[in-house]
Amino acid sequence: MKFKKNILCIGAGYVGGPTMSVIALKCPEYKINVVDINKNRIKEWNSDNLPVFEPSLMEVVKKVRGKNLFFSDDIKNGIKKADIIFVSVNTPIKTFGEGAGMASDLQYWEKTAQEIVKYSEKDKIIVEKSTLPVRTAQALERILKSNSKNIKFEVVSNPEFLSEGTAIKDLLEPERILVGSHRTKGGIKAAQEIIDIYTHWIPRKKIISTNLWSSELSKLVANAFLAQRISSINSISALCEKTDADITEISYAVGKDSRIGHKFLNAGVGFGGSCFKKDILNLVYIARSYGLEEVADYWEMIVKINQYQEKRFVHRIVKEMFNTISEKKIAVFGFAFKANTGDTRESPAIYITKKLLEERAFVSIYDPKAIDNAKIDLKGIDSKVKYEIDPYKAAKNSNAIAILTEWEEFKKLDFKKIYFSMKKPAFIFDGRNILNHKKLHEIGFNVYPLGKTALTHFK
Ligand code: NAD
Ligand code: UGA
Repeated sequence: MKFKKNILCIGAGYVGGPTMSVIALKCPEYKINVVDINKNRIKEWNSDNLPVFEPSLMEVVKKVRGKNLFFSDDIKNGIKKADIIFVSVNTPIKTFGEGAGMASDLQYWEKTAQEIVKYSEKDKIIVEKSTLPVRTAQALERILKSNSKNIKFEVVSNPEFLSEGTAIKDLLEPERILVGSHRTKGGIKAAQEIIDIYTHWIPRKKIISTNLWSSELSKLVANAFLAQRISSINSISALCEKTDADITEISYAVGKDSRIGHKFLNAGVGFGGSCFKKDILNLVYIARSYGLEEVADYWEMIVKINQYQEKRFVHRIVKEMFNTISEKKIAVFGFAFKANTGDTRESPAIYITKKLLEERAFVSIYDPKAIDNAKIDLKGIDSKVKYEIDPYKAAKNSNAIAILTEWEEFKKLDFKKIYFSMKKPAFIFDGRNILNHKKLHEIGFNVYPLGKTALTHFK
């Protein structure tokens, strides 16, 4: 079959894989190649065991793989043939040198740009899909323009707003698509080509066009605002535990104001995921680099409250279990940073488990999808950790259960059976407020919900 256009995506990760699968599904006349330097990842994308767990992803991949969607490690040829290149490589926090711990590490991004220059033989549109610091496109253009082949590259920003666990739904029915470009004739034309991809299934009125810098910065700001809501409600959960106010009731009452809204007001053990922390710290770094100290301090507080929330959770476990958890068995239910994903990047469970181990507890971990990643995260410090594939086994003979991820299946567990298999007094710390606390208390548990009065049997 002759395809209308060749699209390449560099980076076959959580964003590149699902995003391109959905574009392939909705645009059968485009040929989509997804490439990665990680050969193993590409192998997995070509197998029945995809490297990313997302509900419905496998179904979509099966419909298009080998038809108009191809996964390969041949970056050179991919670049050569492409008319449009989406760059979706990782942009983690820099761990060395200037800006370490704050700024974006753009080495993967820059290497990609260099490769595009090296292998290109015709004009192309380069799409920033990765989340990038504002004005990255300028640096990118400088690299691209350094080519001596008289090739024209037009840079477009098209940040991704999908959430893990709902990636396919978010891609099929996004609330908006953002396309930023230069306001020149070439820039507008390039943006239109990207818009044309999305209008295959998304109404035009949902597609926002902005200048390049607004698009780049909007992505950082969107994540910062979402994280800000979580830190706001989490900070109030601490106050609830002191005052017998109830965080769920507060979220409901406050969220009923349509100016505030009810989403992203669930208090928990803290936000995780590969992006919130890195994107906020990046925003802080950018603000500071422009001398905007107050702006930087304001946003940095969101991350500090998140760390406080994780610390607070462990502190409460130790304090309530008579100030020692040494030699006690704690069952950790949920290691993923949120439900419906196996991803553990920046999961609060990593910090919490490490602290429990520092307090010399024995930890058993159960998670329906994230055990393999948990093993990687705790490698070298897990001599007192047991990874279980059965939640009942994880809880057996434990002194306490800590709920760290809001997996739906936890609600359906037989807590009577669990209670009778545990050491007494049995504790449960519901870091996500997903269980029926009254019922657990009736069974015999000492229940510590987050941001609510504890239900105990102690006199
Ligand atoms: P990821 O780590 O899962 O995937 C990135 C992939 O890029 C990796 O497989 C890596 O091997 C590959 N790569 C790196 N350098 C390369 C190179 N030079 N050539 C070819 N491949 C290369 O990352 P991700 O979660 O998909 O995130 C990608 C970007 O999207 C980040 O900027 C992130 O902030 C942003 N983002 C992520 C999400 C999310 O939910 N994960 C959502 C929106 C935006
Ligand atoms: C987030 C954003 O929601 C996406 O729009 C964005 O594209 C993405 O980051 C990104 O740039 O990577 P994601 O991290 O996948 O998506 O998941 P979220 O649903 O946002 O959850 C993030 C964290 O916040 C999780 O740990 C979750 O448990 C926590 N959270 C979320 C709460 O503690 N309370 C809430 O009310 C909502």
